[in-house]
Amino acid sequence: MGINKEKGFWKIGYKAAALLTGVTILLSGCGSFTGFSVSEVTTNEGDIETKSDDALISVGFSQLGSESTWRSANTESVKASLSTGNGFFLIFDNARQKQEKQFKAVRSFISQRVDYIVICPVIQEGWEMVLTEAKDAGIPVILLDRNIAVNDESLYTTFVGEDMYAEGASAGKWLEAYLEENGISDKDINIVVLEGTTGSSAQVGRTRGFGAIAARHMNWKMQASANGEFTQAKGKETMERLLREFDDIDVIVCQNDDMAFGALEALDEAGITTGEDGDKILISFDGTKKALELVKEGVINVDVECNPNSGDLLAQIIHDLEEGKEVEKTNYMEEKVFTKENVDEYIDDRNY
Ligand code: AHR
Repeated sequence: MGINKEKGFWKIGYKAAALLTGVTILLSGCGSFTGFSVSEVTTNEGDIETKSDDALISVGFSQLGSESTWRSANTESVKASLSTGNGFFLIFDNARQKQEKQFKAVRSFISQRVDYIVICPVIQEGWEMVLTEAKDAGIPVILLDRNIAVNDESLYTTFVGEDMYAEGASAGKWLEAYLEENGISDKDINIVVLEGTTGSSAQVGRTRGFGAIAARHMNWKMQASANGEFTQAKGKETMERLLREFDDIDVIVCQNDDMAFGALEALDEAGITTGEDGDKILISFDGTKKALELVKEGVINVDVECNPNSGDLLAQIIHDLEEGKEVEKTNYMEEKVFTKENVDEYIDDRNY
């Protein structure tokens, strides 16, 4: 790691691998193609992009997909921070929600002998084998955004991302306080949850965090939890189904903003309103600009932030590792809870 002579060897490896696997090399318009510098490389499927220059830290990044506004912001954040200008050679792969595709990408990064592998794991189970291969190859693995469930924590170097359990608990605590303030904390409260990708740490963490608060209140009735896959389309479809099944919903919890936007479409078509003056309480996660506007308008009651701007922290941690510094095993992003009371302070600065 970090030795220029080795980097030179690896650059030969990248070029050879590119030629052997039949990738298409696209020269970007901003420079000439000399020696082993590759300006931009993409596979025939358009999946992988690489950027290389002298003495760069090579990073293979397996992004889990592009399902949401949040995800696009996260991808942009990593690309901006792990730029050539910042000393990185980034190999990007979009797994399109398939863990198998993530395994394939990781194995490709191992065969390319990158310096670091960064993974946003689509689900939390099932990583032991491929991470053991990375460990055996001596390549540090950094988990980004979502966590994994493994017994052997030496299979990854560090985690950089969000505290999903805390996010879920924040939503529950907000509801607790809101019901209290409105003098309805003793009333039966019927709750439905539109969950994200089943088995993802985002779904598991938020469900457990919210569940821990719900468990304190016998009158909170969890009517249904349904998988909305973190997408707007599935959020709408799921909300439509829940409205057909239940006519007495009080609270709708959407585990991300895209599902909340879909749910709002379904609710609107059914003539149902949400928010402070609406028929139902709406809770969401992420804190996208569009959602914060809906908080401001009073349509979403509360939006718990999930911070996608982890690229700079990731870059800093890789630089620290390069310098041989100890890094924390878990690095959480700072996150807020947005309501009508504080949203004005943050709305203009949102970058996603
Ligand atoms: O893992 C983070 C979650 O995944 C975000 O809440 C969601 O929008 C994304 O798709």
